[in-house]
Amino acid sequence: MGLARSALLWVSENRKLRQSLPRYKFIRRAVSRFMPGEQPEDAFRAAAELSTRSINTILTHLGENIADENEARSVEEHYKGILDQVKKSNLDSYISVKLTQLGLDFNQELCHQNLLALVEQAQSLNNMIWIDMEQSSYVDRTLALYKRVRKDHPNVGVCLQAYLYRTKKDLDDLLPLSPAIRLVKGAYAEPASIAYPKKTDVDANYFALARVLLGKAQHGVKVGIATHDRSLIQSVCREAETLGLSRKDYEFQLLYGIQTDEQFRLVADGYLVRVLISYGTYWFPWYVRRLAERPANVWFVLRNLV
Ligand code: FDA
Repeated sequence: MGLARSALLWVSENRKLRQSLPRYKFIRRAVSRFMPGEQPEDAFRAAAELSTRSINTILTHLGENIADENEARSVEEHYKGILDQVKKSNLDSYISVKLTQLGLDFNQELCHQNLLALVEQAQSLNNMIWIDMEQSSYVDRTLALYKRVRKDHPNVGVCLQAYLYRTKKDLDDLLPLSPAIRLVKGAYAEPASIAYPKKTDVDANYFALARVLLGKAQHGVKVGIATHDRSLIQSVCREAETLGLSRKDYEFQLLYGIQTDEQFRLVADGYLVRVLISYGTYWFPWYVRRLAERPANVWFVLRNLV
């Protein structure tokens, strides 16, 4: 892992900096590149704009590591309101949640109840819930909860990270459930004992996992190829064609404000594209992870300072 990336990921997890840095105006200004605003209405406005370009969306309320039962329940309530609003607005927008927002850190049973309530509400509204994948210490618990809820509910998906050595086995375990999988490279600082340290190895593993997923795309597996990596996107398109898939058999997922021209190009070429839009006031750790993905982004922050 590069030095700049490691340093930024350290900043994203530092408690003191999480509290102090977001107060600076130049940082608040810079974050707007990746986030249309802190309020749900900002996210809905951006989703409506994207829908005019045939891009669907995923909405996520930023937050993680909630430590209190009431707060976890209020996140669940918040998302229920968002699901209702999505229905009323006629947008094709899913919801994505972090399980540590729903209580995973302190009460796995409560987290399960909160997740189940959201998935059931989404099912009644013909919508779906995606589960983000957080640091490696959460993977077992996240997959266990995913399997438990997926058993009776088809409208729930989970994210898998290609940088973890374990992911091929996790994917093999999930496939019999006809899962919905969002494949990402992985955004956290993980040791070389459990995650590929070299980007080339992560990319190779990503493609190997994507091939497995594409092979199942016409057999009940919902496939989300979540990357901005143009060369990987090209390889995935070629592989899908070789397998005889149609461009609507799987979906590309990208983050709001990143590779926007690639989002438009994919739609113009007939692919399904879904953009994840974040909102909320607790954006600092999430934002610094975006900087870590491309340390050159730090210059953009500094330009805002000047
Ligand atoms: P890579 O990092 O190689 O980037 C490829 C190119 O894309 C770069 O060269 C650059 O041009 C551009 N790019 C990428 N990131 C950028 C940025 N921040 N700013 C500007 N340009 C950028 N991770 C995780 O651990 N758990 C999760 O639940 C999720 N969920 C998720 C959902 C969706 C829809 C996406 C797109 C991503 C995630 N991620 C995630 C994040 C993911 O793990 C990964 O960190 C980022 O997608 C960056 O990796 P890429 O695959 O884009 O490749």
